[in-house]
Amino acid sequence: MSKVLDAEIKTPQQTNPEELQQFDLVGFGSGIFDEKHHESLLELADKLPQVTDKKAFIFSTSFIGVNSHVFGKVSSKFHTALREKLQSKGYSVIDEFNCKGFNTNRIYGRFGGINKGRPNREDLKHAEEFATKLKE
Ligand SMILES: Cc1cc2nc3c(=O)[nH]c(=O)nc-3n(C[C@H](O)[C@H](O)[C@H](O)COP(=O)(O)O)c2cc1C
Repeated sequence: MSKVLDAEIKTPQQTNPEELQQFDLVGFGSGIFDEKHHESLLELADKLPQVTDKKAFIFSTSFIGVNSHVFGKVSSKFHTALREKLQSKGYSVIDEFNCKGFNTNRIYGRFGGINKGRPNREDLKHAEEFATKLKE
């Protein structure tokens, strides 16, 4: 995504919330932890100044794919906390991306983890296509 968009990658800790105002499009993403993005990213979203006319996109990796139903569990809410925070700061969230990520949480760690090798080559291709669509 960063190559396609010619974008700098920064951790929340490296990011001054004020400086994000200078960009027309900002992507926010992390793994999903307990059905939300990483707390450091949610904290950054809380510190963002109010903006007008700025676009954002959201991405994540997770054990269960976003928008899938596994064990009767609907995962589409994984992006909700971050999306609502960004929208409340005035960002228009134009698109969202998710793919599976390697997980060793809970019982899965005992069996060497689940979703080994994810994101894989195909996931990265989808991420690239997603970024190309954003750019267009
Ligand atoms: C403490 C913890 C909680 C997690 N909670 C969820 C969850 O609620 N839903 C899910 O699909 N994956 C969950 N995962 C799996 C992660 O989202 C997945 O492994 C992700 O790819 C981690 O990203 P990272 O490698 O960039 O840290 C959890 C993982 C950990 C360690």
